[in-house]
Amino acid sequence: MMLALPLSGWAMSSAGDHPVSFFGLFTLPPLLMADEALAEIMSEVHETLAWTLIVLLVLHVGAALRHHFIVHDGTLRRMLGRAS
Ligand code: HEM
Ligand code: HEM
Repeated sequence: MMLALPLSGWAMSSAGDHPVSFFGLFTLPPLLMADEALAEIMSEVHETLAWTLIVLLVLHVGAALRHHFIVHDGTLRRMLGRAS
């Protein structure tokens, strides 16, 4: 998801004829040729991927909280490192 989302965003912007700047340092080359119908499809792909990531994130955070408060193991503490 962390790879597919930026790639689909880049593809959508290219298809929509919008240049993509890499943090203001340089402009990325277009991934696709400009095409309105293609831009709409990539927009759907980007939105679906974004929602999938959001659902996975909620599940992932829920699982971390379950480990901490219900299973009572050190999973979340281990991730936080020395501070805990
Ligand atoms: C982890 C990376 C990313 C996440 C989580 C993300 C997430 C999202 C979300 C949630 C939306 C709103 C979708 C909607 O409800 O319409 C969106 C829209 C958009 N994203 Fe991304 N995005 C990411 C990366 C990128 C990148 C790298 C680009 C461009 C190179 C990009 C370009 C856009 C554009 C142009 C829109 C507006 C689309 C429209 O209104 O039709 N995104 N993104
Ligand atoms: C896009 C965001 C995230 C990604 C891609 C991600 C990815 C991962 C991956 C790949 C692992 C390793 C799984 C394994 O070894 O089997 C992991 C572990 C973990 N993640 Fe995330 N994670 C994200 C966000 C979060 C957030 C927001 C939390 C906050 C609660 C969280 C809590 C944890 C915990 C507690 C572990 C287990 C650490 C351990 O075993 O020592 N993650 N995550």
